[in-house]
Amino acid sequence: MNICVIGTGYVGLVSGVCFSEKGNNVTCVDLDVEKIKKLKNGTATIYEEGLEDLLKKNISEGRLKFTSELSECFNQSDVIFIAVGTPPKENGEADLQYIKGVAVSIGQLISSYKIIVTKSTVPVGTGSLIKQIIAEESSFNNFDVVSNPEFLREGSAIFDTMNMERAIIGTESSKAAEVLRDLHLPFTNNIVITNRETAEMIKYASNAFLATKISFINEIANLCELVGADVTKVAEGMGYDKRIGHSFLQAGIGYGGSCFPKDTSALVNIAEKAGYNFRIVKDVEKVNTDQRYKIIEKLQAAFDNDLSGKNVAVLGLAFKPNTDDMRDAPAVNIIPELIKMGCQVKAYDPVANENAKMVIPHLHTVPTVLEAIDGADALLILTDWQEFKKLDFHSIGKVMNKNVVIDGRNLYSPDDMKKAGFYYSSIGRKTIE
Ligand code: UDX
Repeated sequence: MNICVIGTGYVGLVSGVCFSEKGNNVTCVDLDVEKIKKLKNGTATIYEEGLEDLLKKNISEGRLKFTSELSECFNQSDVIFIAVGTPPKENGEADLQYIKGVAVSIGQLISSYKIIVTKSTVPVGTGSLIKQIIAEESSFNNFDVVSNPEFLREGSAIFDTMNMERAIIGTESSKAAEVLRDLHLPFTNNIVITNRETAEMIKYASNAFLATKISFINEIANLCELVGADVTKVAEGMGYDKRIGHSFLQAGIGYGGSCFPKDTSALVNIAEKAGYNFRIVKDVEKVNTDQRYKIIEKLQAAFDNDLSGKNVAVLGLAFKPNTDDMRDAPAVNIIPELIKMGCQVKAYDPVANENAKMVIPHLHTVPTVLEAIDGADALLILTDWQEFKKLDFHSIGKVMNKNVVIDGRNLYSPDDMKKAGFYYSSIGRKTIE
């Protein structure tokens, strides 16, 4: 199949590369000329395991191309994927300016049957809007607009796409549904064909549900601390119930990233516009914001509420491991607050140091764990990187000024930390003093 993917962000680039890996001819389009130059040379523009290898392989085998001109690939493509950004506006609403711009360009170029597919997460009803814009730009009306939301996770984007758990195809056109089913069958047998509005809603409902699971377990964690229970065991016990499952029940400092915060607030906004007050998701958002600051309360508790002049080592800046993505990372709220309270912060992340400096003012980063903890009064763990799961606390104790660890991701057992002689405070478990 000949495919064109507009937008080479996370979703567009990964989808384009994976479609080509399955034997399709794919051209990825982006207005950013510099980005296209890099991609043409086989250089991945995002940090994602396995991406660069597949990129190079498919370019050299002639199935994957890049251009900054949509007109170069539009005519010969059967399916056009729209994967441009939909950043949140101040009021939480998704900003559709890039989607609308692409729809105008498509309207100007279209002269033969095309299947136009939205992969970007868009408010319910956007498919109809795209259809309307194309119709306004062109008298050629032989095209279908399909919603095909993407569920990949950063850090395992290639794996998630190559082994997708389901493909959602939202269209009233049986012709378009057939083509997209054929395109997705090499990836999964779980194919849901429905109307566009339902497909658009599936994406928001899925992300909001996962965010709800996280905020739910974080509230349970807060309660566990008050009644002497251990949230990790509670989650384990709950998870054996197949109806609940173990995933997304890891208590911590809350979710971040480019999807959950944006999609929950967009869902609240979609509901408001439809005249519905979506109470649960509003509370999920509030719980998530408060949870970020819990780690600061814990640090304050370790120092009798006086943090001025304290040297604090922060391990982890990215919103989750295996990515350099700082979008809506808890560190973005936590570190400025620590600095405001008078702490001297030295931070280390295996890959996100540079990106973090762009979004956290006055951030001092160091290239190793050791340099971060040298002389520190406290160590804060914000991201559950593998590297932070196997720290040698006997050696660490020798270089820190005070043996205080505040663990926002529950990476260690409180009993082990007690044996190592540390003050250890984590989420939803007993504090070792
Ligand atoms: C998410 C969805 O998982 C994916 O399907 C969708 O397409 C995009 O949004 P992503 O943002 O890449 O993917 O990350 P994910 O692994 O889902 O984690 C999101 C956030 O939740 C991270 O900040 C993570 O630390 C946090 N999280 C996750 C928890 O705090 N506890 C958990 O149990 C799971």
